[in-house]
Amino acid sequence: MQELTWWQHSVVYEIYPRSFQDSNGDGVGELKGIIERLDYLVHLGVDAIWISPFYPSPMADFGYDVADYCGIDPLFGTMEDFDRLLAEVHRRGLKMILDFVPNHTSDQHPWFLESRSSRDNPKRDWYLWRDEPNNWLSNFGGSGWDRDETTGQYYYHSFLKQQPDLNWRNPAVKAAMFDALRFWLERGVDGFRVDVMWLMIKDDQFRDDPPNPGYRMGQPSNHRLLPVYNSDRPEVHDLVAEMRAVVDEFQQRVLIGEIYLPVQQLMTYYGRDLKGANLPFNFQLLQCAWSADAVAQVISDYQGALPEGAWPNWVLGNHDQPRIATRVGPHQARVAAMLLLTLPGTLTMYYGEELGMTNVAIPPELVQDPAEKNEPGLGLGRDPERTPMPWDNSRASGFTSGTPWLPLNDDHATINVAALEQDQSSILHLYRKLIDLRRSRRTLVSGKLRSVTAEKGVLRYQRIGQKDRILIVLNLGMDTAQIEFEGGTVLASTRAERVGKAVNGFTDLASGEGLVIDLA
Ligand code: GLC
Repeated sequence: MQELTWWQHSVVYEIYPRSFQDSNGDGVGELKGIIERLDYLVHLGVDAIWISPFYPSPMADFGYDVADYCGIDPLFGTMEDFDRLLAEVHRRGLKMILDFVPNHTSDQHPWFLESRSSRDNPKRDWYLWRDEPNNWLSNFGGSGWDRDETTGQYYYHSFLKQQPDLNWRNPAVKAAMFDALRFWLERGVDGFRVDVMWLMIKDDQFRDDPPNPGYRMGQPSNHRLLPVYNSDRPEVHDLVAEMRAVVDEFQQRVLIGEIYLPVQQLMTYYGRDLKGANLPFNFQLLQCAWSADAVAQVISDYQGALPEGAWPNWVLGNHDQPRIATRVGPHQARVAAMLLLTLPGTLTMYYGEELGMTNVAIPPELVQDPAEKNEPGLGLGRDPERTPMPWDNSRASGFTSGTPWLPLNDDHATINVAALEQDQSSILHLYRKLIDLRRSRRTLVSGKLRSVTAEKGVLRYQRIGQKDRILIVLNLGMDTAQIEFEGGTVLASTRAERVGKAVNGFTDLASGEGLVIDLA
């Protein structure tokens, strides 16, 4: 088997920094807090961390509204804290991936303050200004255009009006943003997750988007139109390739793209000759129905669509999506863990998944997320999946000595790291065993994926290495299924007592049960 680059065999762990660990009692996590918890991550076995934005920001979209690409917001610490974090990460043999937000800045970014100050300001063309708006919508509801009093023109924002979109057709914008990338690369970060990569370039003629014939009442308002002219434009690929070239000026770095598109379009983001994103995030499992048939289909479609030589990746959750344990329930969350950790390529997990953490219902008066505030009641809010990490059974679960910025889960006295640590049969131990297995059996990372089938609610597939064969059997259904095995040894199981035992002939697999079997 060919030698793998670090990111190819990595399990990446996403940290939402507000919610991981607070160390100064203000109820919001920060970089120092992450340092305190690095040993936990080493013990869990992950290889890299991706940290959601910590740059100076008015926090209209909790850091995805950046006011300075080369700084640290005081809420999260200082540049010294950053350098120490990076050093501590590397000292432990981990890698660090930053979140880069190229599509838009904060409306408080000095570039935008200049741009909006007059029509003939040199930075006017750094953003998208028009005399009249077209029909493009904001992903957070309503028109994407906002009229600016000072100059009487409209600017476009794909998200909040406090997040004006940059004009990536302007070479000066490119140069400034690429310098921001180099700033962090020179400091030693190992790569970037690029925010809304497929939105970065818009139609240069600003043509109206067509209506979406499939739109139904009650859906988010931005579904009313098909985003033909303000997303996934052909020119975006040149831009991604340029970004990749900047990252490749440095050794051993990775470029990951956040892209919500159907699988065929997604694949184009690997770029011509694979010179685009190293990893266009594969979100297929976030959106598919939880059944053996649906998941088998998703796996086959994705693997079948991968360009020659492209490296696969899989994801179960992130800071914008309902938590997996809420989507599929606590039993199936274990099956989901086994699925994720036995699929090929690079894997990304979201903090708390290893605890089976669920969404937290946020009472209206505590809502923070603008997505919920702008269009309440449609289930668009992301606070439920961003609640603090429960570390122990103390008052605020060891997350903070103050009042957490979002409420902890009701079950934090029992579902927390310390408690699950004590329980050998917990999902936390399952995650750890599976990550460990992935490390010792590289066939799970880079072996061929074969024989994907769904039958009686059970999903099966094999991973084929040069010297080994591993069978994965997952009961995603509601009923116990009888499965016939050709003979092998259990390497991992959702029920710990099965590990090490032989399987042969007919075996019952309960709903929510999964096995990883060495066929040797
Ligand atoms: C991405 C981020 C999301 C943010 C949006 C606007 O989708 O993941 O959290 O709100 O971009 O930056």
